[in-house]
Amino acid sequence: MIDKKMEAAINEQMNWELYSSYLYFSMAAYFDSINLKGCSSWMRVQAMEEQAHTKKFYDFLTSRGGRVVLSDIKAPPSEWETPLAAFENVLEHEQVVTGKINALLDLALEIRDHATGSFLKWFVDEQVEEEESADEVIQSLKLNQDNPGGLFMIDKELAARTFVPPAGVTL
Ligand code: FEO
Repeated sequence: MIDKKMEAAINEQMNWELYSSYLYFSMAAYFDSINLKGCSSWMRVQAMEEQAHTKKFYDFLTSRGGRVVLSDIKAPPSEWETPLAAFENVLEHEQVVTGKINALLDLALEIRDHATGSFLKWFVDEQVEEEESADEVIQSLKLNQDNPGGLFMIDKELAARTFVPPAGVTL
């Protein structure tokens, strides 16, 4: 049986993952509203990844005899000043999520819950990738800030991203 403190912390993390998905769907809608379909598609894939993260926590908690309890998801923002501001928001948000994952791992170590610690390592690695991919887009957008042709090319490149569910996860 999983420790009650860890059960509560994982339920809280699931809320963060669901909020992340909600935030990225909202960003997809923002990009659709300014006709950047590739950026919108990138955000939709990002939103699906967050749902997959939620599912991973759900399955893990259930497999350890824990009880999944869902709570309110706060409304995300719906507008950003520029495409760059939206992607900067992605990076800031992912940095917050990285902090949450680290705090979960700290708790697992504190209560000597090695099974949860081992499970969380996948998320530690995932967060490195999440921050890196947002930063890559930010750098490209900064290089092309005054170049509408460059923005068009970036939008085309971002359209190529596809959703690959993590091993063992079906949505
Ligand atoms: Fe589930 Fe983007 O962290």
